[in-house]
Amino acid sequence: MTLTEKKEIIEENRKNQMKSAIKEDSNLLLQVKNLKTYFYTEEGIVKAVDGVSFNIYKNEVLGLVGETGCGKSVTALSILRLVRSPGRIIEGSIEFNNINMLELSEEEMRSHRGNDITMIFQDPLNSLNPVILAGDQVAEVFLLHQEEELNKILDVHLLERDKLVQELKELKKEFKENKEQLSETEKEEFKVKIKDFKKKIPKAPNLKDVALEKAEQIIKEVGIADAKQILKRYPHELSGGMRQRIMIAMGLSCTPLLLIADEPTTALDVTIQAQILDLMKNLQKKFDTSILMITHDLGIIAELSDRVAVMYSGNIVEYATAEDLFKNPRHPYTQGLIGAIPSVEKKDKKLTVIRGMVPNLIYPPSGCRFHPRCTERLEICDKIKPRFLEIDDRYFIACHLFDPEYKESPKYQWDETEIKESYKV
Ligand SMILES: Nc1ncnc2c1ncn2[C@@H]1O[C@H](COP(=O)(O)OP(=O)(O)OP(=O)(O)O)[C@@H](O)[C@H]1O
Ligand code: SF4
Ligand SMILES: [Mg+2]
Repeated sequence: MTLTEKKEIIEENRKNQMKSAIKEDSNLLLQVKNLKTYFYTEEGIVKAVDGVSFNIYKNEVLGLVGETGCGKSVTALSILRLVRSPGRIIEGSIEFNNINMLELSEEEMRSHRGNDITMIFQDPLNSLNPVILAGDQVAEVFLLHQEEELNKILDVHLLERDKLVQELKELKKEFKENKEQLSETEKEEFKVKIKDFKKKIPKAPNLKDVALEKAEQIIKEVGIADAKQILKRYPHELSGGMRQRIMIAMGLSCTPLLLIADEPTTALDVTIQAQILDLMKNLQKKFDTSILMITHDLGIIAELSDRVAVMYSGNIVEYATAEDLFKNPRHPYTQGLIGAIPSVEKKDKKLTVIRGMVPNLIYPPSGCRFHPRCTERLEICDKIKPRFLEIDDRYFIACHLFDPEYKESPKYQWDETEIKESYKV
C-alpha cells in the first residue's frame, strides 16, 4: 500500500469516526477526565497536570485561567497529544466527539490535528516555519482545510476571466470585420483599445493564487493593514505581535470543531486584541466552533467565555458559568484573582494580593495545594486534599469550606510571623 493510499484510509476512518460520534451525543465535544501529565526531570517528577477533568460543549467557549506555571499550556498540549519528553500523559482519558484520543495511533492523531482541533500556540516564533514565507504558511492552511471553498472561488475567477477573453475575441472580430471602412487614425485607436483590453485580463489563476488571496484577506482581518507586503516576509522579519496575528489567522482559517487558543492576544495592544476577540466570536457563530481560551486575563475571560475553569497548581479548583464566577466567586483563590483586577470602581480601594508564591510542582504542598497562601484555611486543609464537589449541575468547587464533611472544622490560626513570611516573595 502506498503512503498516499494509507493516508486516504486514515482520513476516511477519521471522517467516519466523526460522523458516528456526532450522532451519539450532539452536544458534548470534549471530555477530559482525571488527566495527569507529569515531567520526569532530573530534579524530580513535575506534576504539571494532576487530575484535571472538564467538558467542552459544542459551540461554547470555555475559559481556562490561572497564574503562571499552573499547567494551562500542558493541559492544552495534552489534548493534542503534543507533550514532549520528558513529559508524559500517565493517567486519564481525553474523549473528543466520543473518540478516545489517547488510543489513536500517531498518524490518526495527526489527521485530527488541524482538521477538527487546532491550536494557536503561546509562542508564535517556535510554531511558524522559519524558512517559509508568512503568506505561504497561511495559504497552506487554506489549501489543506478549505479546498472546496477555494475551488468555488477559483471557478468564479475563471468564469470572470473567460468572460473577458470572450469580450476580447468579439473586439478583435469587430476590428477585422470593419477594418476596411476605418481610417488610419481609427485603426490605431482600435488597436490601442484592444491592447488595453488585453492588459485587463489577468493570467489564469490556480488554487494557490486563490489561497494567497484568502490569506491576504484573513491577514487584513487580524488587523495587519499592509497584508500584501506581509505575505512576502519570513517569520523573523515580522514583529512579535505580527507573528502572533499570523498564528491567529492560521488558527481561524481551519474552521475546526475546537480551537484551543493559548494566550492568543498577550503581545497585542488593546485595540487589536478587541478585533481578534471579535473575529473569534464570529468564527464561533459562523462555524459552531468551540473554543478553549487559555489566558491570565480575566477581562478576556469575562468578554468571551460561557464557562470558566480556574486552575491552580495542576488542578482545577472552581468551574462555573462566567456569570456565576464573576458575580459570586467562592473559591478563596478565585476570590484572590478577581480581587486583584484593577477597575475604576476600586480606584480608592486597595487591590487584594494573593500572598506567597505559586508552589513548586515537584514538591507540591500537601492537602489543598493552596493552603500555604489561603486566608480562609481550616485546620484540616494541609492534611486532606479537597474533593471536587458538584454544587449544582453547572457549578463545581474543590475546597473544604464547601464540603459538608469538613466545613465546620476549626479555622487555622495564622500567626504573625507566618503571615509576614508568606508575603516575602
Ligand atoms: N518540558 C518541560 N520539562 C519540565 N517541566 C515542564 C516542561 N514543560 C512545562 N513544565 C512545567 O509544567 C508546569 C506547567 O507549565 P505550563 O506551561 O502548563 O504553565 P502555564 O499555566 O501555561 O503557565 P503560563 O501562564 O506561564 O503560560 C510548570 O511548572 C512548568 O515548569
Ligand atoms: S481547601 Fe482550605 S486551603 Fe484550600 S482553598 Fe479551601 S479553605 Fe483554602
Ligand atoms: Mg502557558
